[in-house]
Amino acid sequence: MPSYADALDLFHEWTETESLRRHGYAVEASMAEMARRRGGDPGSSPGQALEDWRIAGLLHDLDYEKHPTPEEHPGVGVSELERLGYSDEIRTAILGHAPYTGVARETEMAKALFAVDELSGFVTAVAFVRPTRLEGLTPRSVKKKLKDKRFAAAVSRDDIRQGAQELGIDLDELIRIVIDGLSREASRLDLT
Ligand SMILES: [Fe+2]
Repeated sequence: MPSYADALDLFHEWTETESLRRHGYAVEASMAEMARRRGGDPGSSPGQALEDWRIAGLLHDLDYEKHPTPEEHPGVGVSELERLGYSDEIRTAILGHAPYTGVARETEMAKALFAVDELSGFVTAVAFVRPTRLEGLTPRSVKKKLKDKRFAAAVSRDDIRQGAQELGIDLDELIRIVIDGLSREASRLDLT
């Protein structure tokens, strides 16, 4: 199984667009926070779980820049990850984050990845239009923005709600996790 450093090199090789890189970092940061709170799946040590969850977040859109169509994304990237020896858990979670693959989200990792993907982008967008960025941002104000259909219109509100439901947590808690995860890594995300 490749290390986090290998995953980062691979990500940079496949993804040159700055906004897509930032999306990968943001989902990674949210996944790290999820791993801390939910502890990962039984059977892996906490340190390993944290690294695996980070890698799943970082690499979930690995092929998106070069292969954005549903026919290719995320299948092309996942084939490459298989060739390179990434775990079945990570690959299945990445396939499951795209609803149209029909791959079931059965592990905690898969459920978390689906739940934080769109929301990480949304919270980033909310923070960008605030002078204080993530500082003082509350789930309540994020929820208000979710109701404004014109704000970050491309973000699927249904996927976010479904993600929280699959994890069995309420939307406020999910938003709180994402805010905290992004806040810890704000400088990498240009959110300071
Ligand atoms: Fe994504």
